[in-house]
Amino acid sequence: MNLLGIATTGGDAPGMNAAIRATVRTAVANGLKVIGFERGYAGILANESMFLDARTVSGIIHLGGTFLKTARAEQMETADGISRATKVLKQNRLDGLVVIGGDGSMKAACKLHETTGIPVIGIPATIDDDLAGTDTTIGFDTAVNTALDATDKIRDTATSHDRVFVVEVMGRKRGFVALEVGIGAGAEVILVPEIPHDINKTCQSLLESNRQGKKSAIIVIAEGAGDSTKVTEEVHEKTGFEVRLTRLGHVQRGGHPTALSRLLACQMGEASIQFLLDGKTKHLTGIQGNRIAPVDLEYASTTQKPLDERLYKLASALATLHLS
Ligand code: F6P
Repeated sequence: MNLLGIATTGGDAPGMNAAIRATVRTAVANGLKVIGFERGYAGILANESMFLDARTVSGIIHLGGTFLKTARAEQMETADGISRATKVLKQNRLDGLVVIGGDGSMKAACKLHETTGIPVIGIPATIDDDLAGTDTTIGFDTAVNTALDATDKIRDTATSHDRVFVVEVMGRKRGFVALEVGIGAGAEVILVPEIPHDINKTCQSLLESNRQGKKSAIIVIAEGAGDSTKVTEEVHEKTGFEVRLTRLGHVQRGGHPTALSRLLACQMGEASIQFLLDGKTKHLTGIQGNRIAPVDLEYASTTQKPLDERLYKLASALATLHLS
């Protein structure tokens, strides 16, 4: 093994820079050369890359975003995109490819392994935490803490004004961010795509709780759990309460990675190179019960990671609206 390619792809996640640094430095320490493709798969398709050495990745461990840049690359869902990327990877005579990103990125990485024969290792980095086979992903903890901090602030104003707030967090398809933010913020209601909800029951609970003296409430809703504007209007119509909507949006994707996101990135970056050197060819570098472990990449990117229903029940139990 001589030359390695690396790319950050899909939505950025805090800790991607720390993962690049750990991967590059471990590779260099093992005598490998590394090129970084810019803008993820878009950079691979355009064959735009730069040489990376131990020095190039200095001073980035604490920075959000990704200095290699990233992009959504719908082309990689087509046969034409895969075939163009295959040509570029072969032209570069790569001996290995490390893809840092989420589930869409990993699906494309699997295909590229099949078409090029080049060993591919995925590093899970997405604020959505939606890759199977790994307990968590780089950036998730940071996003949860960012959203939690904002929700705590909303709680202050909600309490002062006796208002209900609907707080929309990221998660187009999955509710992992909503669940952890909801639990941490003591949200009265958590709405996630995985669990159907009945707006009438939610409103009855809010009314009952109000009768018993609890005059404000927080409803945390994942993007994918329904139209948050509609939920806001419906809660107002059915309860008569003042209801406000806050969409936290892309603020959740930025900022300095937390200690946990950095630690994960450092360990996963290092392990990814070890996996390549050990001869692994199509794996995700996961974490399972505090141990870094190789996971089949196909499995990780095609299996639906279950939402922890135990945590969801805990959230409802602890945020019970009624006092009796
Ligand atoms: O990267 C994951 C994610 O942040 C989702 O939670 C969100 O729905 C989506 O990306 C937003 O994508 P974009 O930045 O392309 O608008």
